[in-house]
Amino acid sequence: MYINLGIIGNPLEHTLSPLIHNYFFYKTGLCGGYTCYHIELEDIPDILDIFLAYKFTGINVTVPYKKEIIKYCDNLDITADSIGAVNTLHFTDNGITGHNTDIFGFHMMMAENNVTTNNKRVLLLGAGGASRAVLPYLQMNEPYNLVISNRTMEKAEELAYLYGGSAEICMLDELYDSEFDIVINTTSIGLKGEQFKDYGFIVKEAAVDMVYKPQLTSFLSLYKQSNIKLINGLSMLIYQAAGSFNIWTKQEVVPDMSYFHNIVYK
Ligand code: ATR
Repeated sequence: MYINLGIIGNPLEHTLSPLIHNYFFYKTGLCGGYTCYHIELEDIPDILDIFLAYKFTGINVTVPYKKEIIKYCDNLDITADSIGAVNTLHFTDNGITGHNTDIFGFHMMMAENNVTTNNKRVLLLGAGGASRAVLPYLQMNEPYNLVISNRTMEKAEELAYLYGGSAEICMLDELYDSEFDIVINTTSIGLKGEQFKDYGFIVKEAAVDMVYKPQLTSFLSLYKQSNIKLINGLSMLIYQAAGSFNIWTKQEVVPDMSYFHNIVYK
């Protein structure tokens, strides 16, 4: 059977997902394809009809539709439901099920780099869509002290409420001289090539960025002279894809990270 997969989002010009999933097809010996659909918001109902008509197995959903897509799901798995964002649709006999494998991707990225937030002083930068995928990890690996910092305070408050544990919130400009073991950047600063401003906080163990390009991202470049772990978002991206592929095909792929590393950074 030919397995039809794809992704919807906007923009999609730079997505690595087709490359990753075609590698998974090759590794598992399954027969299928993965296609990109750059769509506008109002196209969602029509494109879903097409996926169903053409018997797609599933699709990924990326920025900016991870929340919007929820209303088209017949079922949500517990993780997608808990953070209110879906990155994977599975077309099943029981309708469309929404999953979120970004959470799995984040877990795997931390594990692979031997970093845990458990009992640490942690700073979470940003309170947008990307920050949501970090919440279940933080709930399972509870920091000794968590600070959520965002330009817009209402969004930081909302995230702290969703987290449910004890978390301080503050403005980015209030971080000067504060000390953390681990800082996790979920903001989109730097994505358009701008330099991440140095807010003057001190990081002792690891700087983690959800961005994966360039290898030393704008945020991570602030710490290039320091002796801490610098972790960019490439493994999160690969593992969220492996999580989606597993949902669609029941095949567990163990991604060869050096393969992707060479392709993305060569
Ligand atoms: P995503 O889904 O990728 O997280 P988003 O929901 O637009 O995208 O969130 C982007 C995050 O980066 C937000 O935390 C945003 O701060 P606001 O909530 O105040 O908008 C943050 N961000 C983006 N550009 C920023 C900038 N120039 N300075 C500070 N924060 C910025």
